[in-house]
Amino acid sequence: MNDAVHLRSDGVSLVLDTTGPRLPRIAYWGADLGELDPSDVRAVVEAGRPPTVLNLMDEEVPVGVLPEAAVGWVGTPGLSGHRGGRGFSPLFDLVAVDVPDGDDATAGALRILGRDSALEVDLELRIALLPGSGLVRLSATLTNTGTSEYVLERLQLSLPIPAEAAELLDLTGRWTRERAPQRHAFTLGTHLREGRRGRTGTDATLLLVAGESGFGFRSGEAWAVHTAWSGNHVHAAERLPTGVSLLSGGELLLPGEGVLAPGESYTTPDVYGSHGHGLDAISARFHRHLRARPGHPRTRRPVVVNTWEAVYFQHDVDKLTRLADAAARVGAERFVLDDGWFRGRRHDAVGLGDWDVDPDVWPDGLHPLVDHVRGLGLEFGLWVEPEMISPGSALALAHPDWVMSTGDRLPPLSRGQQVLDLANPAAFEHIAGRLDALVTEYRVDYLKWDHNRDLVDGGHPTTGRAGVHDQTLAVYRLLDGLRRRHPGLEIESCSSGGGRVDLGVLERTDRVWASDCLDPLERQQIQRWTGLLVPPELVGAHVGGARAHTTGRVQDLPFRAITALFGHLGIEWDLDAALDADPAAVEELTRWVALHKRHRDLLHSGVVVRSDHPDPATWVHGVVSPDGAEALYAVVAMATSIVSPPGRLRLPGLRPDRRYRVEAVWPDGVPEPRRILPSWWAAGIELTGAVLATAGVQVPQQKPEQACLLHVTEVTAGTARTTEITGVTDDPRRAREHP
Ligand code: GLA
Repeated sequence: MNDAVHLRSDGVSLVLDTTGPRLPRIAYWGADLGELDPSDVRAVVEAGRPPTVLNLMDEEVPVGVLPEAAVGWVGTPGLSGHRGGRGFSPLFDLVAVDVPDGDDATAGALRILGRDSALEVDLELRIALLPGSGLVRLSATLTNTGTSEYVLERLQLSLPIPAEAAELLDLTGRWTRERAPQRHAFTLGTHLREGRRGRTGTDATLLLVAGESGFGFRSGEAWAVHTAWSGNHVHAAERLPTGVSLLSGGELLLPGEGVLAPGESYTTPDVYGSHGHGLDAISARFHRHLRARPGHPRTRRPVVVNTWEAVYFQHDVDKLTRLADAAARVGAERFVLDDGWFRGRRHDAVGLGDWDVDPDVWPDGLHPLVDHVRGLGLEFGLWVEPEMISPGSALALAHPDWVMSTGDRLPPLSRGQQVLDLANPAAFEHIAGRLDALVTEYRVDYLKWDHNRDLVDGGHPTTGRAGVHDQTLAVYRLLDGLRRRHPGLEIESCSSGGGRVDLGVLERTDRVWASDCLDPLERQQIQRWTGLLVPPELVGAHVGGARAHTTGRVQDLPFRAITALFGHLGIEWDLDAALDADPAAVEELTRWVALHKRHRDLLHSGVVVRSDHPDPATWVHGVVSPDGAEALYAVVAMATSIVSPPGRLRLPGLRPDRRYRVEAVWPDGVPEPRRILPSWWAAGIELTGAVLATAGVQVPQQKPEQACLLHVTEVTAGTARTTEITGVTDDPRRAREHP
């Protein structure tokens, strides 16, 4: 008989009941339980077995990673499907458990084989507690071992959470207002978030978090789930009166997408679980995980100038050359030519698919601009939208059967465009070839890879079958192939702004575009919540012109700059025109760019912290270096408040027992706004990390939409450290409990 398994990593324990005869059940997922001997592990499992319930089943109802209706579970089954109408209720036997050995016990994934002999399907489950991050990762492969078609409708995996998780938080949004949080009580029933846009979506859940009542960034035990998939997907939080609560995730299969021929398999996307005390701890695990990717960008994140809001579709070689000059002048290191460069692309309803340079606008190709950009010492980036096709493009006219549809009617247009059926090998090869040629010819360093519409009626035109699943895999193949052929190439995931942000696409891209909204007030919240999953160096954040194009608000440069400098900094502003109209502003921008570069290594490697100030007008967020020696915080006035100044503000995440110097930073030569300063401000102040986290410091009274920066550096080696603190908690007691 198999034994129970206890996996431990980074302050997390995962105890699995793998004793059979059914598929494994997670007996415990949460804070580290410490070293347990095998009998203790068995006892954890035993203590977690539910009693039978009066008027329900006469037997125990085990709820596994794949919940099964056959045992009496009356919630959502993990697997749904049938074989010609029969076999509607699967019940798997546990066939084999492959536990990674010895010291490696936490490194590899447990592989569990289940079999439903009557239904003739095999299920391989993979369950890992990832070293270095403490994230749980689940996935499964279902194989049809029978001789007829098996119709798979749903395969979702679940993680149990305790009754203490009484409140839910997830995200939603729309174009230019991505990642708006919503929270409510975790009531009985199912909170279901389905993504049916054929892409992750500007309204994507990102994380579905369940936590103790009132959980915030710094406090409250919480559990979160994320489905690493860029197509249709599901996140669910389900609570039953039997005392079972689950977080689940998986792909949302359209009708017919899961039909498995004999011998065929379906593999789920990875479903991640993160546990911690406070959202900062939850997100720190994702950040550590992403930073440990072999492909994580290791070079300094170059400051970008992007042409979109500067010129839109008005491409003119001289103008863009002057813009490149201005980019170099302010200290940018990468110049990205956005939409508008390819054949016929004078507005957004034309040209997609015809990926060659427009000879009317660029008689000598892009070479004069690219050579100029490189001559200035800048990298060159190019915008593409490879999955899309404009109806009037030469490509669409030549290959009408390459446009995704139900087979008998075309989907409604969106932004004037349709979707190219990349699961069609000829279409795939064509696009792969065009991308390859462009990257090669112009030695493109960076692609801004866009995807500007939902996949409505996203089917294969030739068969009339649903095609979102195949499309998602084809896009992944396209990205992987291009990166293999061009190892130095970086790719940004953009989709109507922040519509494709997930761990599936992040396995093969180097940054996400958070939003088309550059208004710093909106951006504060978009970046704050995007940061729940993605670390700052992977979040594109641009300084726009004074009047935000998408909201019409006018904000001063310090607020725009302080907001953007906490991400992968860029500029999206007609600097050429600004040099004429307001050269002082361009000079100021240069100084903000220099300030970002001074702190860039810290900003792009540190632990992200956010304080839970009760006044929604006052936001404090920062980045603390992994060794705890340095931090940079922003104090942001999001609105007016009755309470002003806000009082002492806590600076979370520092080592409690170390001594720090706190100083306001502002770029030299940039006029500071007139504000009344606290007494310590001019000279700085020294305090311990514990004092800064628990008592805090006074800050200036700020007007709405103003912000200031505090730089914190360690001044002594500090007292002997008895614990290794990960920087995700500033409660010294908790730090001691969880070394
Ligand atoms: C999308 C992107 C923008 C820009 C335009 C170009 O909306 O999010 O940043 O690239 O497309 O058409």
